[in-house]
Parts: sequence; C-alpha cells; structure tokens
Amino acid sequence: MCRPDHFAVTYAINPWMRPDLPVDTARAVRQWEDLRRTYLDLGHVVDLLDPVPGLPDMVFAANGATVVGGRVLGARFRHPERAAEAAAHTAWFRAAGFPTTEPEFVNEGEGDLLVVGDVVLAGTGFRTDPRAHAEVARVLGREVLTLDLVDPRYYHLDTAVAALDDATIAWLPSAFTPAAQAVLRARFPDAVVADVADAAVLGLNAVSDGRHVVLPAQAPRLAAAIADRGFVPVPVDLSELLLGGGGPKCCTLEVRP
Ligand code: ARG
Repeated sequence: MCRPDHFAVTYAINPWMRPDLPVDTARAVRQWEDLRRTYLDLGHVVDLLDPVPGLPDMVFAANGATVVGGRVLGARFRHPERAAEAAAHTAWFRAAGFPTTEPEFVNEGEGDLLVVGDVVLAGTGFRTDPRAHAEVARVLGREVLTLDLVDPRYYHLDTAVAALDDATIAWLPSAFTPAAQAVLRARFPDAVVADVADAAVLGLNAVSDGRHVVLPAQAPRLAAAIADRGFVPVPVDLSELLLGGGGPKCCTLEVRP
C-alpha cells in the first residue's frame, strides 16, 4: 500500500476524476489508514511503498505490478501522468529481492490483471494493451483469459470483477463485450452478479482473502449477496479516494509468495 499523502485530482484520466471539485487529502489519509488497519486486524502483513510528491494517483498501488508465485511483472502506464509510478514499484520489489521483469507493453498491474486460482483474468479496452496478455502468460507462467471492457466507468478490470476465492468471482456483465461475458459465464457459472447500483460505487473493487471480503461500505446489496455465499463482508469507507476513481482493491497490491 502507498499512503495518499500527495493524493489529489489534478488531471482526469477516467470519468470519475473531476479536477474542478475539491479533494480533502487529510480525509483520504484517514480513510486509507482505516483500510490499512482493517487488513492488520484481519491478520495480514502490510508493506508500504513511499509516496512520491507529484504522483497523486500513487495511492492506487494495485496498478504498479502483478505478483504471482513470488515473480513480479512490472507495470507500464497508459497515461504519462502516471508513468513514473512504475519505477518506484520496480525499485521496491528489486530491493525486497523479488525477481522482477520490466514489461514491453502497457499493462496497469492488478488493475487489469486479476489472479483467480490458477488463471489470470486480463482486461483490455481502456488501459492494458492486449499484447501484454501474452507477455503476462509468458512471464508469470499462468493461463490468461482476455476480457474486453466496454464501459468507461469500469476502465480497469478490477472495477468490474472481484475475485472472492480461487473459483468464485463477483462481476458486472454489462461492463464487458458479449464475447467476454460468454467467457466468464463458461468459466464461472456460479458467479455472484452485482447489482448495477453497487457496481456504480465501485462495489466490485474488493479484496478477498478467500473468506473476508473488504469492499466499499456504499455497496450493501453486494455485501449481502456475498454473505449469502458464506463469505464475510468487511465494509470500508473510501469515499474520498473514489474521487480518483478507485476503491479498496485499487489501493492494494497483493504480494503472492
Ligand atoms: N486515477 C487512477 C487512474 O485512473 C485510478 C486507478 C484505480 N486503480 C485501480 N486498480 N482500478 O488510473
């Protein structure tokens, strides 16, 4: 995770971002501290990446890399405003001793690359270059399923799909092309289908340890639906970070050993 000390909305690279509206950075930090505390209370280890002045989106750590089996594929950002974040992540992983590969094609880390069991769901359409998907398969040694996103509000895959455990997802079908919907229906016939209103507050931007699912407090119907499946919803309020177009998952890069 990366503390939002320099969080702001100074440019707009997704429809959520409104540089004309005020942002309360101190409130963003408090909400982010609650998220961090939530992970610690659940027994997880949280490593911190130092925030860099002038990189207001760096709080969205999920975009900085993808880690599978202790191997790291670095990110390459679509927009120049975020480009410098990639090197900060790569430096952190190299210093921590992880074998790290710098990518050839644009990929926005776990924003578009979602690990579900043995497979990597890979989004494209807004950010990640579809050519990055083969690179992911090669570098991380996993099967990759390409999924085309169509709704600009759900510009990253992790705004439209949540991995609940190794075999279960929650998702918003209308965020995908018919072909991508067919792929997900075939692979995950028991998926939780999100309510449109819950997805519209980025309710699907959730982090699960296979049992506890940390999700936006503003998505109560989704919380009830996943509780019905035996998961334990853990609501958090990250309303200030939603002004940047992100939620709990965006703030969290999972380091899979
Ligand atoms: N403002 C950031 C962007 O548009 C938000 C990133 C959200 N991160 C995510 N994993 N979906 O790039």
